[in-house]
Amino acid sequence: MAEADGAAKRDFRDGLFVRDLGEGAMILGQVDGEDAVLVRRGNEFFAVGANCTHYHAMLSQGLVVGDTLRCPLHHACFNLRTGDALRAPALDPIPHWRTEVSGEKVFVREKLAVPDRKDMSAPTAGRSIPASVVIVGGGAAGLGAADMLRREGYDGALTMISAEDWPPYDRPNLSKDFLVGAAPDDWMRLRLPDFYREQNIDLMLNSRVSAIDLAQRRVQLENGRSCGFDALLIATGAEPVRLTIEGAYDAQVHYLRTFADARAIVSKASSAKRVAVIGASFIGLEVAASLRTLGIAVDVIAPGSEPLERVMGPEVGRMIRALHETHGVIFHLGETVARIDDATLTLSSGAKIEADFVVLGVGVRPSLTLAEQAGLATDRGIVVNEYLETSAHGVYAAGDIARWPDPHSGERIRVEHWVVAERQGQIAAKNILGHRERFATVPFFWSQHYDLVINYVGHAESWDSVEIDGDLNAHNCAVSYKRGERTLAVATISRDLQSLQIEATLEDRLLASGGIRAH
Ligand SMILES: Cc1cc2nc3c(=O)[nH]c(=O)nc-3n(C[C@H](O)[C@H](O)[C@H](O)COP(=O)(O)OP(=O)(O)OC[C@H]3O[C@@H](n4cnc5c(N)ncnc54)[C@H](O)[C@@H]3O)c2cc1C
Ligand code: FES
Repeated sequence: MAEADGAAKRDFRDGLFVRDLGEGAMILGQVDGEDAVLVRRGNEFFAVGANCTHYHAMLSQGLVVGDTLRCPLHHACFNLRTGDALRAPALDPIPHWRTEVSGEKVFVREKLAVPDRKDMSAPTAGRSIPASVVIVGGGAAGLGAADMLRREGYDGALTMISAEDWPPYDRPNLSKDFLVGAAPDDWMRLRLPDFYREQNIDLMLNSRVSAIDLAQRRVQLENGRSCGFDALLIATGAEPVRLTIEGAYDAQVHYLRTFADARAIVSKASSAKRVAVIGASFIGLEVAASLRTLGIAVDVIAPGSEPLERVMGPEVGRMIRALHETHGVIFHLGETVARIDDATLTLSSGAKIEADFVVLGVGVRPSLTLAEQAGLATDRGIVVNEYLETSAHGVYAAGDIARWPDPHSGERIRVEHWVVAERQGQIAAKNILGHRERFATVPFFWSQHYDLVINYVGHAESWDSVEIDGDLNAHNCAVSYKRGERTLAVATISRDLQSLQIEATLEDRLLASGGIRAH
C-alpha cells in the first residue's frame, strides 16, 4: 500500500478483490504514485484521477451518476469512460486508466490518452457549420462557449470581444479569496494566455460592442472597428444596479463586478478601518466576510428584515446574519442610506455611521441594450428557446443575460449563477455547431461566508413551505423549498454529497416526466 496524506491508500496496480467494491461504490487509491479513484458500475470498472480540475476537490467524496462522476464542491461532471469534463466549472479532463479483471481481482493498467479535440472534417450529418463565430462578452458564458467550440473541433474563425481589460477570469473569487489576498492575479485566469493563441481564438480586450446589425450579420465596436459573423453568441452578463445617494461622491462608492472593481476595493481596503456595505445580497455579504477577515470593521445596511430573505427565506437569513454577527459585522436592517457626507452615512432612521468607503451590492440587471437595439425578443433578459437560440436565427444568448425555458420548474427563468453561465456557453457552442442539445441542467450556485458554504440546487422564486432537515444553527442541514408536495430547490450546508444526490433526483424527476437528462 502507498502512504499519502498520512493515510494508507491502496496501490491499484496490485489489484483489488472485486468483492471488495460494491455496486456503484468507489474507492480512493493510487496508480504509480498518482491519486486515483476506482469506480464500479455493474461489471464495469473505471479508474480516473482523484482530483477535480476546477479547485482540486477530492472526487472520491463525489457521486457516481450513470457513467459520470460528479464533484462534491461545485458539481462539475466528468465522463468515467474518457475522463472528459462534461460540464463546467471544470474545463479540463481528469486522467483515466484502463482496468482489467483477472481472476477475482480488478487491476488498473496503463494510463489512457486524454480525449482528443473532436474531428469535424468528417461529414457533419446535414449540420451547417458557421464559417465564423463571434462571442460578445469575455466572462463565464463567453469562455465556456469558446472553449467548447474548439473542443468540439470547430476550426473556423472565432472571435471573443470583451469590454474588460483582463482575459476571462474567475469572477466568483473576486469577493472571496481575491479580496482577502489569498488568490494572486495569476490564479484568477480561467485559461492561460497561451490558450487563446494555441486555440486560435481572437480575444479582443478593452473592446466594447456598440451595436449588432442582424441584417448585415456584423457587430460594431465602440472603437470604430466592426466584425462579421455567421453565428453570434451574446454573453454580456449583468451590471450592478447603481444608486444615487445624496452627497456621495463617485470615488467613495464602489461596486463589485469586474476585476478592475475588485482591485480598486483591495487597494482602498489596505488602509481602511471601517467600511459600509449597502445591500445584504450574496455579493454584499461575501464582501463583508472578506473585509472582516482582513480585520476591517463592517456595517451592513439593508432595507429587508433578514439578509438573503428573498432568495433563501427568513430561516436561512437569520442564520447567515448570526454568523456574520459572530464575526463582528453590524447590521442595520430595515434601513436605507439617506445621504453621505464625507465619511458619515446618515441612515433613514437618522442614525449615523462612519465609513472610509462604501461598497454597494444591491443586485444586478442584465446588460440588454445591445439585444434591445438589435430588435431581439427580450423579457427581463434575452428570451431564448431550449437550445439557447434567440428570436434571430443563428444568434444565441447565454449566462446572466438569458431567460430560458427551465424544464425543471416549467418556468422561463433567468439566474445569476456561475456554473449555469458556463454550461449555457458550452451548450450554446454545441448548438452553434448544429447539435440541437437542450439546456436541461439543474440550476446550481454556491456562496461562501467565512468557512460556511451554501450549495443550492434547483430554482424557487416563491414557495409555500420550507422543510429543514438537520440543524441550521449547527451549520449542517438541507433546506427544501416546496410548492405543495413538489420540491423546487434545496440549499445545503456541510452536506455536499446530499446536494449532488438531490441534483440527481431532480434530473431523474425530469426524466420520469418525459424530459431529458442533461449531458
Ligand atoms: C463578486 C461576484 C461573486 C460571485 N460569486 C458567485 C458565486 O459564488 N457563485 C455563483 O454561482 N455565482 C457567483 N457570481 C455570479 C457569476 O459570476 C455570474 O453569474 C457569471 O459571471 C455570469 O456569467 P456571464 O458570462 O453571463 O457574465 P459575465 O461573467 O459578467 O461576463 C460578461 C462579459 O461581457 C462583457 N460585456 C458586457 N457588455 C459588453 C459589450 N457591449 N461589449 C463587449 N463586452 C461586453 C463584460 O465586460 C463581461 O466581461 C458572482 C458574481 C460576482 C460579481
Ligand atoms: S472543485 Fe470540482 S467543481 Fe469546483
